[in-house]
Order: sequence, then structure tokens, then C-alpha cells
Amino acid sequence: MAIEPKGIAKKNEQSLSEMFKELGSHPVPKHARSYMYCFGGITFLLFLIQVITGILLAIYYKPTPELAYESVMFIEQDVWMGAAIRSIHNVAANLMVIAVLMHMFRVIYTGSYKPPRQLNWIIGACLLIIVLAFCFTGYLLPWDQLGYWAAVIGTKIMGSLPWLGEQLLLLSQAGSKITGYTLTRFYALHIVILPVVAIVSMVIHFLMIRKQGISGGL
Ligand code: HEM
Repeated sequence: MAIEPKGIAKKNEQSLSEMFKELGSHPVPKHARSYMYCFGGITFLLFLIQVITGILLAIYYKPTPELAYESVMFIEQDVWMGAAIRSIHNVAANLMVIAVLMHMFRVIYTGSYKPPRQLNWIIGACLLIIVLAFCFTGYLLPWDQLGYWAAVIGTKIMGSLPWLGEQLLLLSQAGSKITGYTLTRFYALHIVILPVVAIVSMVIHFLMIRKQGISGGL
């Protein structure tokens, strides 16, 4: 009676180890062993740093207009390594924008946006918007003058878009002006919605690279 489940477990075990073997069995092709091809990987590494430092910051951050600034100051001044972790989160965010742009320029330079990779180019463009949205939403979280006015300007720019502008303005501000509701909305975007969308998009991006291979050299 007990034979069948055991057999199934063994089968799954084997397929899991085979899966890991398969994942690690694709060396980078010779033509892609140039520094120009490293920026996608660097962007991914920076994303992982952001996830780790972001989780650590979220332990002390309080997303309300009354407590947000105070909690950020507490992280800066009282939490062990708080200032360092906040700095790493800030610096890596800026580096991520630079890395993703460098990656995009490499893709343009090598013509890798052309068929059959046009869909992956579009997914990449979505990833670029996601990276910028991470920066934009994160900037408001300290709830200081700089973040507040950046959010006013950013949401107004969205509001000036044709057709959907008005709706986008109301949706992004969670009302007709920047309030505590905007802070909650930006926080939800920053720590839940954008990370989930980013991870799903990256998985698709990587699976497509696996399937299509890296485009031929320069
Ligand atoms: C979070 C952002 C992103 C990450 C983590 C990422 C990651 C990667 C990685 C690791 C590769 C393998 C080759 C390489 O590193 O150069 C790659 C390839 C590619 N990426 Fe991205 N990428 C991102 C954003 C973008 C953007 C913004 C675009 C363009 C709009 C883009 C378009 C492509 C295309 C078309 C390929 C295939 C290139 C080829 O076969 O030569 N990616 N990406």
C-alpha cells in the first residue's frame, strides 16, 4: 500500500534535481561574454538587493502621514545599521535605473529588439516602466517636502496625458490632491503590487531568453 506514494515522491525528487541541473547547464555563449551583456544581470542583482533592504526597512517604517517621517528618522538615527541599509536602498535604486538604461541601449545597439525578440522587447519596456514606478512611489514614502512635491509634479504630469490623464491623476493621488490616502496607495504599489508585477515580468523575460537564446554577436 505504501509503495505507490514512495514511488511518486522519488519521481518528483528526480525531476526536481533534473530541473536544477537543467537550469545550471547553459553556459553563456561565447559571443555574449562581453561586458556589454552584463547589464541585464546587474539590474537583476540590484533588484535582489532592493528586495532584501526593502524588507529590512519595512520592519520599522510606518506608512501614515503622522508617523512616516518620524519612522524614517528613527531608522536613520536609532536602528542598528538603519542609516546604512537606507543608503544602500537609495543608491541601488539609482544604480538600477542606470543599469536598466545601459541594458536597453545594448539591446538597441545589437539590434536585439528585432524579430523574433520583439515581444521580449515589449516585456523589457514594461520592466523599465516598473523600475521608474518603484523610484517614483518610493520617493514619497519618507513624507518629506522633497517627496511630497515630487509626487505633486509626477501625478500632474500623468494628469496631462491625453484621454486617460484625468482618471490617472485621480487614481494615482487617490483623490483630487496628495493626502494620506496617496501615501497608503504608493506604499501598496511600492511593496506589493510593483514587486509582484516585476517578478512575473522578469520570469517571462528570462524564460523567453532561455527559449530564444541571446542574440548573435555584434
Ligand atoms: C528589471 C529590468 C530588466 C532585467 C532584470 C533584465 C534582464 C535581462 C537579462 C539578464 C538578459 C540577458 C542578456 C543581458 O543581460 O544583456 C536580458 C535580455 C534582454 N532584455 Fe532585458 N532586463 C530588464 C529590462 C529590459 C528592458 C528595459 C528592455 C528593453 C526595453 C529589455 C529587453 C531585452 C531583450 C530584447 C533581451 C534579449 C537580448 C538578446 O537576446 O540579446 N530588458 N534582460
